[in-house]
Amino acid sequence: MSHKVASVKGPLPGPRSKELLARWARVEAQCMGYQAQVAWDHASGVVVTDADGNTFIDWTSGVLVTNVGHCHPVLVKAVQVIAGKLLNNYECLQESRVEAAEKLISVLPPFLDKCFFLTTGSETIEAALRIMKRKSGKFEIISFYGAFHGRTYAALSAGGMAGPKKGYGPTIPGSIRVPFPYCYRCPFRADPATCDMLCLDYLEDAVRANSTGSLAGLIVEPYQGAAGFIFPPQGWLPRLEKWLRGRGLLFTLDEVQSSYGRTGKFWAMEWEGLTPDLLCIGKGIGSGVPASAIAARGEVIGALGAGEMSSTMGGNPLASAAVSVVVDIMRREGLVENALRMGAIMKSRLLEMQEKSPYIGDVRGMGLVMGVELVKDKKTKEPAPDLTRKLIDQAAGLGLLIGSVGVFGNVIRVAPPLVISEAEVHESLNIFEKALSRL
Ligand SMILES: Cc1ncc(COP(=O)(O)O)c(C=O)c1O
Repeated sequence: MSHKVASVKGPLPGPRSKELLARWARVEAQCMGYQAQVAWDHASGVVVTDADGNTFIDWTSGVLVTNVGHCHPVLVKAVQVIAGKLLNNYECLQESRVEAAEKLISVLPPFLDKCFFLTTGSETIEAALRIMKRKSGKFEIISFYGAFHGRTYAALSAGGMAGPKKGYGPTIPGSIRVPFPYCYRCPFRADPATCDMLCLDYLEDAVRANSTGSLAGLIVEPYQGAAGFIFPPQGWLPRLEKWLRGRGLLFTLDEVQSSYGRTGKFWAMEWEGLTPDLLCIGKGIGSGVPASAIAARGEVIGALGAGEMSSTMGGNPLASAAVSVVVDIMRREGLVENALRMGAIMKSRLLEMQEKSPYIGDVRGMGLVMGVELVKDKKTKEPAPDLTRKLIDQAAGLGLLIGSVGVFGNVIRVAPPLVISEAEVHESLNIFEKALSRL
């Protein structure tokens, strides 16, 4: 029998976590989503240890960030070494930055031949939208219901979720939002088996009704993350790209969370041969060290001249060192392949659980990014956000950290670091099954 890594000694939160959570609530605004009631202390690989010494298997990767595993020793070492040399040089060059750019370009398809470093995912969205407008000389951007591109102003304007926008209107003029193929809850009440992607036809209607004739481009996630890990049916993204190319629109793909092996390919765009003009990259690129980047066709990003894009922290030595070694680690440890293999095992067991559980309405995803959608009733599909929170607590009490997403807050995100082993996969699935049985 393999050695178990999860161990929770008593009720959660333990005394030290409880004290930290109370201190925190007194001083920092509590405007975040629901999380398991533990204070993290340290982590390694897929195992998180809380402030009371309890250990958990992590299915969150932070929020799909620590793809190479928590505190990978090679990443930690690289950060320690560079921190002793230089911490900020703004736009003056230091070798680590050119190395990072070379590394990033080396893993991108050849048509994306230029990159630029920023710090957060939202910043890359702001940059992509600005570049699409500047390059085309037009201002309208098509995006999708349920999209989440971040919380800065242009990013939330392109977004299709209520939370980030609430009370913050008007959003940026020229945002045209259209339905995304959330087939489990089709906005057209169509049958995905026979609809022939009706939602794509609707694009023409939406443009006819809403555009002033100034369409610049379109932004889309390969799968919708925050909306509930919603994967479009096979063939939908290529048909979307064909449609936008036919109209001469620029194409931004938001791979802030879907990249760096998450779906079982280095880039999610590889699955269906997409060829975007601009690619937004975040989260896994630094695997915990704050870093992000935009990659683009040279002639597209060339729309910005000297002095027209910069970021105080973008491409700083710490981030740059991380960007370089993360690529090396991914390659050396075959993490893309591991995501595919472990993901297949996880998905088949989650599908078995769906058969047995009255509450699992849908299981979807690929590689190590899967959504488990919880409902009160499989026939009515009424979302079950309360059960979702209960499941988060039950799982934590047994040694598994999970989080939730979804338009209705009822989707469990299954997204462990890509270093997860087969033994850890089974141990964590056993815990999940037990937690489910306690709902
Ligand atoms: C697809 C996508 N785009 C953009 C963002 C925004 O990234 P950040 O929170 O780093 O600004 C996120 C964050 O969750 C995301 O999932």
